[in-house]
Amino acid sequence: MIGIISAMQEEVQSLLDALQNCNTVEKGMRTYYTGMLYNKPVVIVFSRWGKVAAAATTTQLINDFDLEELIFTGVAGGIDQQLNIGDVVIGKELFQYDVDARPFYQQFHIPILNLKSVSTTNNDKLNHAVSFFLNNYDTYILKEERINFNISYPKSVIGDIASGDQFISSMEKIKSLNLNLPTAVCVEMEGAAVAQVCYEYSIPFSIIRVISDKANDNAHIDFSRFANTIASNYILGILEYYFA
Ligand code: ADE
Repeated sequence: MIGIISAMQEEVQSLLDALQNCNTVEKGMRTYYTGMLYNKPVVIVFSRWGKVAAAATTTQLINDFDLEELIFTGVAGGIDQQLNIGDVVIGKELFQYDVDARPFYQQFHIPILNLKSVSTTNNDKLNHAVSFFLNNYDTYILKEERINFNISYPKSVIGDIASGDQFISSMEKIKSLNLNLPTAVCVEMEGAAVAQVCYEYSIPFSIIRVISDKANDNAHIDFSRFANTIASNYILGILEYYFA
């Protein structure tokens, strides 16, 4: 089956609403929802925020369910000035920007593994599905929501993602990330932790993030509005094509 994780229930709500033959299993304070989505067997779980919560959930998911691949989804703060609210990022390399074990390892390198980032898989197929979704955007996203969020031409990029246990909401922090990890286009709080666990268990991993805010002064307001309304409709639309 295919595992789908997000950090918040809001980010997968539309998938849970569409899930058929739904069963639930409770473990470690998480609820794992199994069932059929677009005729594919899936298991969906929201991990809660942060790298520890996401890593623990991923480990449980891999050990208790027979996964062929794992997809992480949710929102992110854009730190590349080309990205706008409503754009889609298909993750390429995942960095943990808060790992710093110098002088034993170089900055950002994961101890023992000695990797600066973890790579994703299935990008071509996902990229295709995202393009189909964006071409049929109005089927999934209400016109009034599009206007509310000032989304005119939503685009997608295949880009690097920086994860850490911080909600980023200042230009100062953005500048420091741009300087230290110049290829990272967005920030969030789970992806690279999930990527590391999938790497360690040899599970194919991919990640789709929708830009909810620009990691600036207004981030907390933009983030909440976006996550609570349209975020999960993106993944519902994208998976319809990905699973076809
Ligand atoms: N997820 C969405 N927006 C974010 C931000 N600004 N910082 C961290 N994680 C986020």
